[in-house]
Amino acid sequence: MSALSDLCRQVAACHACDLSHQRTQVVPGEGTERADIIFIGEAPGYNEDRLGRPFVGAAGSFLDELLSSIGLTRKDVYIANVIKCRPPGNRDPLPGEIVACKPWLDRQIEIIEPKIIVTLGRFSLSRFLPNESISKVHGKPRQVGEVVCFPMYHPAAALHQGSLRSIIEADIRRLPEILGTLKSTDEPNVTGGDAQQLTLF
Ligand code: URA
Repeated sequence: MSALSDLCRQVAACHACDLSHQRTQVVPGEGTERADIIFIGEAPGYNEDRLGRPFVGAAGSFLDELLSSIGLTRKDVYIANVIKCRPPGNRDPLPGEIVACKPWLDRQIEIIEPKIIVTLGRFSLSRFLPNESISKVHGKPRQVGEVVCFPMYHPAAALHQGSLRSIIEADIRRLPEILGTLKSTDEPNVTGGDAQQLTLF
């Protein structure tokens, strides 16, 4: 069994917070263990809780479209959430729930070793760049430890506020170039040689 499948099995048995009593299924995440890019949303909603898969509702269809716009499918990336069980009534995750779930997301990132973490929405953003506002940092790559963080608005935001749709579409179109630059240097901060430079904020 792969390290990631084993982890998902462990997540399915998690009772670290009260959400475990209300869930239909845990939603650990899905995609490839060899992903260069991991997309991290907020929390499972109604459909995700039923199916045990992330982003399968309307926001998920938009995420699929966004991936397709840069020539990717779900199988090429990894998709996870800050918390793995649905908050009742789709309320915001509570600080204690985020803390309880943190080790699972940390371990997923450790196993996958992505080059880019795309944060979807403010809960995911604040996990990596606390105190930043999404309206200021969306679409701008930032080095966070070993990885480049690329903040984006949550796909569901475009469903409520149509004007965000084209912003989200434009942001994701930056990803292939950012990934290409990271792959060509392997060290985003390196200067000199033939390495292309990535402008980080
Ligand atoms: N919204 C999220 O943040 N995650 C999902 O899995 C579905 C909707």
